[in-house]
Amino acid sequence: MSFNTFGRVFRFTTWGESHGPAIGAVVDGCPPGLALTEADIQPFLDKRKPGTSKFTTQRREPDEVRILSGVFEGKTTGTPISLMIENTDQRSKDYSEVAKAYRPGHADYAYDAKYGFRDYRGGGRSSARETASRVAAGAVARLVIPDVDIFAFVSEIGGDAIDPARFDASEIDNNPFFCPDPQAALRWEKLVDDARRDGSSLGAVVECIASGVPAGWGAPLYAKLDSELAAAMMSINAVKGVEIGDGFAAARLRGEQNADPMRPGQDGPEFLANHAGGIAGGISTGQPIKVRIAFKPTSSILIPVETVTREGEASDIITKGRHDPCVGIRGVPVVEAMMALVLADQKLLDRAQCGDDGKGR
Ligand SMILES: Cc1cc2nc3c(=O)[nH]c(=O)nc-3n(C[C@H](O)[C@H](O)[C@H](O)COP(=O)(O)O)c2cc1C
Repeated sequence: MSFNTFGRVFRFTTWGESHGPAIGAVVDGCPPGLALTEADIQPFLDKRKPGTSKFTTQRREPDEVRILSGVFEGKTTGTPISLMIENTDQRSKDYSEVAKAYRPGHADYAYDAKYGFRDYRGGGRSSARETASRVAAGAVARLVIPDVDIFAFVSEIGGDAIDPARFDASEIDNNPFFCPDPQAALRWEKLVDDARRDGSSLGAVVECIASGVPAGWGAPLYAKLDSELAAAMMSINAVKGVEIGDGFAAARLRGEQNADPMRPGQDGPEFLANHAGGIAGGISTGQPIKVRIAFKPTSSILIPVETVTREGEASDIITKGRHDPCVGIRGVPVVEAMMALVLADQKLLDRAQCGDDGKGR
């Protein structure tokens, strides 16, 4: 089996490797009649692309998207939308060592163990270059859910967290870390720079909030909205943890602290708290959906790590080349895209089963 497709009604398949001629996505199941041009997709790719600051990798990829199919006279036709991004900055020589020895923290050994063969140039299919394809598909998904507002930010780098009291959403795009706390952003400049100069790397926590999701999206049990989001976020390279709402912190609360009390409001019940992260019983409650995602530190570092070669000999490896000192930073637009892709699918699934009830669903 191969698993390169995500979603049920709004589905996308990504294709391509980091050192092939191009990568891309095929989006199938998109409703017809939505206005779509490359200009709707490009800003999201620009947000993810490398080399935008000294705190991300210095690879140069313009990441220009082309729509190859599924759009006629500027509107989606309901047929597969094929999106292509050319690879223009591959440097195979940076990766020649990787052909011989496995890089710990990368997919090298696991791919070899499974397939007996691997494209070692930049990690091939396991390279996070693939996430550009998701970001392109995510831009199309956003057109399906125009009333949903999605944004993500970095809330922690290397164990140094933002102060929630200083949260200011308007600051997120004012610094190279997508950080809503300007004081934390200043601290992170030195933190990330020091790690990079040491040849090391740092992990990060990214948080994503989707508001404007009506009550009723999702499903009970085996396709809970929680588990769909967890699967989507976990599928991103370097993600090792996902929490919905208070997540693990909820396990440390008492029942009355963790409840999201309700009172009658003008348009139905109003919630007085949101520990659940906008989901109950696997179905959205109409509250903002909140997800926290843990990114591990970049595996490619200049500090030698013990490993073995393909021949089974002991060796030490340092991974030269151009790498992100903290992959969580560039993970932000990828997380936003996965949120959009899940919610677009859930909207269409809900409509398929429950129809349009006239309440904005
Ligand atoms: C946007 C983004 C960029 C990444 N860039 C790098 C990188 O420059 N160097 C690196 O070692 N890992 C990078 N990664 C992570 C690796 O792709 C990932 O750790 C590796 O493929 C192993 O997969 P796993 O961590 O999901 O198990 C990046 C991840 C993301 C989301």
